[in-house]
Amino acid sequence: MIVLIGFMGAGKTTVGYLLAEKLGVPFVDIDIHIERKEKRSVRAIFDEDGEAAFRQIEHNTVVEILSGPDAVVALGGGAAEHAGTRLALAGAIVIYLEVEYDEAVLRIGHDAYRPMMSMANVRGIYERRQPLYRSIATLKVRTNARRPEAIVMEIIEAV
Ligand code: S3P
Repeated sequence: MIVLIGFMGAGKTTVGYLLAEKLGVPFVDIDIHIERKEKRSVRAIFDEDGEAAFRQIEHNTVVEILSGPDAVVALGGGAAEHAGTRLALAGAIVIYLEVEYDEAVLRIGHDAYRPMMSMANVRGIYERRQPLYRSIATLKVRTNARRPEAIVMEIIEAV
């Protein structure tokens, strides 16, 4: 199991899709999986039930996917904030896609679909998460000013 982590805008979905294609395994985007299961958008889950409820659903979904067939899995940017989710990743190859804060904001802007981007102090959230991503990463890959294909090659060579 190869799991991609990192802040919003790090390129987890783009890189994950390409990486899975190259490795010939399925690609699972946890957010999309959650939306199918819940039959509502991530935004709606945040609005109706709050962030803590979303983290619990996210955790359950990660555990479910990790116990399934081999895949490349893209986690949401906040999944690493849940201690149980960090523990659940112990047996996986965890790739941390590192993006600078300003670059992440440039890439995604203040996307109305991403509830965390409309919160106060997004930079604080970014900073709080850095040590969490590092603590569970098997490999850290820089993404600033790099094409997805180059990032995928670096991951394939390393794993
Ligand atoms: C979140 C990131 C989103 C999604 C949700 C919460 C976060 O995923 O899971 O909006 O807390 O950073 P992406 O990182 O794929 O945007």
